Amino acid sequence: MRTRPLKVALLGCGVVGSEVARIMTTHADDLAARIGAPVELAGVAVRRPSKAREGIPQELVTTDATALVKRGDIDVVVEVIGGIEPARSLITTAFEHGASVVSANKALLAQDGAALHAVAGQHGKDLYYEAAVAGAIPLIRPLRESLAGDKVNRVLGIVNGTTNFILDKMDSTGAGYQEALDEATALGYAEADPTADVEGFDAAAKAAILAGIAFHTRVRLDDVYREGMTEVTAADFASAKEMGCTIKLLAICERAEDGRSVTARVHPAMIPLSHPLASVRGAYNAVFVESDASGQLMFYGPGAGGAPTASAVLGDLVAVCRNRLSGTTGPGESAYAALTVSGMGEVVTRYHISLDVADKPGVLAQVATVFAEHGVSIDTVRQQGKDGEASLVVVTHRASDAALGGTVEALRKLDTVRGVASIMRVEGE
Ligand SMILES: NC(=O)c1ccc[n+]([C@@H]2O[C@H](COP(=O)([O-])OP(=O)(O)OC[C@H]3O[C@@H](n4cnc5c(N)ncnc54)[C@H](OP(=O)(O)O)[C@@H]3O)[C@@H](O)[C@H]2O)c1
Repeated sequence: MRTRPLKVALLGCGVVGSEVARIMTTHADDLAARIGAPVELAGVAVRRPSKAREGIPQELVTTDATALVKRGDIDVVVEVIGGIEPARSLITTAFEHGASVVSANKALLAQDGAALHAVAGQHGKDLYYEAAVAGAIPLIRPLRESLAGDKVNRVLGIVNGTTNFILDKMDSTGAGYQEALDEATALGYAEADPTADVEGFDAAAKAAILAGIAFHTRVRLDDVYREGMTEVTAADFASAKEMGCTIKLLAICERAEDGRSVTARVHPAMIPLSHPLASVRGAYNAVFVESDASGQLMFYGPGAGGAPTASAVLGDLVAVCRNRLSGTTGPGESAYAALTVSGMGEVVTRYHISLDVADKPGVLAQVATVFAEHGVSIDTVRQQGKDGEASLVVVTHRASDAALGGTVEALRKLDTVRGVASIMRVEGE
């Protein structure tokens, strides 16, 4: 074993960073044996230097992250600050000064992954980010390496624990959205400002990263269709139950049937209770991958939290250190396929539509005609009358989102349709 240590600069020592530092210390001997050289924490950049940090020698703490990554003797920079800046500049500077980088930063990777990979490539350095998607769950490496000989057609996942916790609460207790969100906040599963989670921004960043890797195609954050879950109601769960389904906020990356284009989207969807993703409870994450040769694979586990996320960071750290010692780098960006990334209109799926209609003869026929005129075939219809008004629940066969959009627009114009109470996609069948 080499005795000269590999030097690690830790940028950020919060929820994730403090666990990275702890495991680096407590597992130092095992890490050294697995890597073939000891790893040494050479500096820790934070915002508030006077904050007490257990196990971190004060002399390692600095507020000058730029000076730390410019030192020239750093082998690996671990970026767990989060956000776009200064993380992006620090990572770029780290490559320019000879370090490889491990990051957990989904927002940055989704926005600037291609540019950062390019800088890493120019300098012959590694950029690893297993922790950026679904915390502890090995997903980036399996997609990038284990499935490199296969053809991935679909990635369907629950990649945000906060929203899964809220939806699971609504499902199991009949609670409304606000009540379930309040409980998630009280238990620490939701942040004071839950927008990034409940509006699907966090999941969209992960979808962009997953789609890019799965389809060997650059998928920008703007390419990902995004719909949050704040409008999901207890009534939607009741409808889902009647269909033998539950509701999950899903990230869905799909190759079109002709194989020439891909789509990426995040939205709430009904999935059958028989689908493995339906049994993912609480704040857990799971990702279902379908590929030509392997068939169906499911990756499941804790998608966030200090120690679980640090596990993924440490796995990357070991891999990058091994590469460093053997003078190689791991796989960089793979975007050779350059498939067209289509918009939401091209997505083909099933829909569950609840309409409030007048309770009189001929309404059903009128509604059915509108569906037929737009080429959307109906699978089932359920009608319930109440005091001169009625609700009509239509479940369609597979149709394009564009066709469904046209159908709904036309339905809204019918005198007999009082309102469209909800539209929910049905996935996983
Ligand atoms: N938390 C999770 O469960 C989880 C899961 C997966 C991925 N991630 C990702 O991991 C990253 C870190 O998340 P976290 O939850 O650990 O965040 P956090 O608890 O807020 O910690 C952020 C750390 O960065 C430091 N920092 C902030 N601005 C800085 C600056 N300008 N220069 C130097 N240090 C700075 C903070 O310093 P102070 O300590 O002085 O405030 C803090 O130590 C993010 O990219 C996040 O998306 C987190």
